[in-house]
Amino acid sequence: MPTEANTRAARTSISIYAPATVANLGVGFDILGLALDAPGDRVTVECADSPGVELVAITGDGGQLTCEPARNTACVAARETLQAIRPGAGIRLWLHKGLPLASGLGSSAASAVAAAVAVNELFGGPLTPFEVLRACVEAEAAVSGRHADNVAPALLGGIVLVTGWDLDAIYRLPVPDNLYLALVTPAVAVPTLAARAVLPENVPLRTMVHHTGSVAALIHALHTGDLALLARAMRQDTVVSPRRAALIPGLDEAHAAAYDAGALASVISGAGPTLCALCDTPRTAQAVTQAYKEVYNRLGIGCVTRVARPNLTGARICAD
Ligand code: HSE
Repeated sequence: MPTEANTRAARTSISIYAPATVANLGVGFDILGLALDAPGDRVTVECADSPGVELVAITGDGGQLTCEPARNTACVAARETLQAIRPGAGIRLWLHKGLPLASGLGSSAASAVAAAVAVNELFGGPLTPFEVLRACVEAEAAVSGRHADNVAPALLGGIVLVTGWDLDAIYRLPVPDNLYLALVTPAVAVPTLAARAVLPENVPLRTMVHHTGSVAALIHALHTGDLALLARAMRQDTVVSPRRAALIPGLDEAHAAAYDAGALASVISGAGPTLCALCDTPRTAQAVTQAYKEVYNRLGIGCVTRVARPNLTGARICAD
């Protein structure tokens, strides 16, 4: 439990990097997420004399992100963390966005995690990872709905299963060795709240049975390192992805091109519009990014492609 005595600032400033994440993995809506090695966001915090959180500057966002503290996840997470450690203390915060906004790569989550970890580390790390996670979930809830499938892997690294809000309901799952991700982010913004608004309130029992079976197969595949089964399970989503298809131009063509180029699975990353393909070699991942790019070039839609690997360690202190 943090006390006044053990929560003096342990240093004058600190910078934390938190990675992008691919949420859902097809069938795991709001319960599964994977951390990527890059890109990521960076938050620097330092102690201030006046109480509360002051957001000094945001860079890397092209001026798009709000500095309004209640709607900026870095500010909300920093405030929640500070409140849990030392209410009445003050910090200044700088946010550098490495992640595109509203892209399906967990942008708001990465900012929240970097900020929460930075504040915790500034005071010597008095909070447990779960307490830090709670601050991040509050931040995510403030802007894009209460879900932890981005913040949990951004904080902890690897592939994380979130089955509830207690620490013993959050599981780090094995990550297969030969996992390469091919990603394409078309130049269309899909705000998470809008992509959640199109989802069904209810699903038929038969759909539920098929869906839970697929999630179970996915977990089994991770525990056995069976990439083919993992990919098969990821492709089984009939609940969320079809509803979001209308928000993502070129989705069917892009999936088809990815499979032609050797992808094992091609799914919407988080709420989209980024698409993520599961590949078993770096060469295939490169070929898939090229295939994605050709689709969007044909459609006249700009895009950014990336090859990524899983990040196994989560948020980290920046060396410089
Ligand atoms: N699970 C969330 C969704 C991730 O698909 O809406 C988006 O941040």
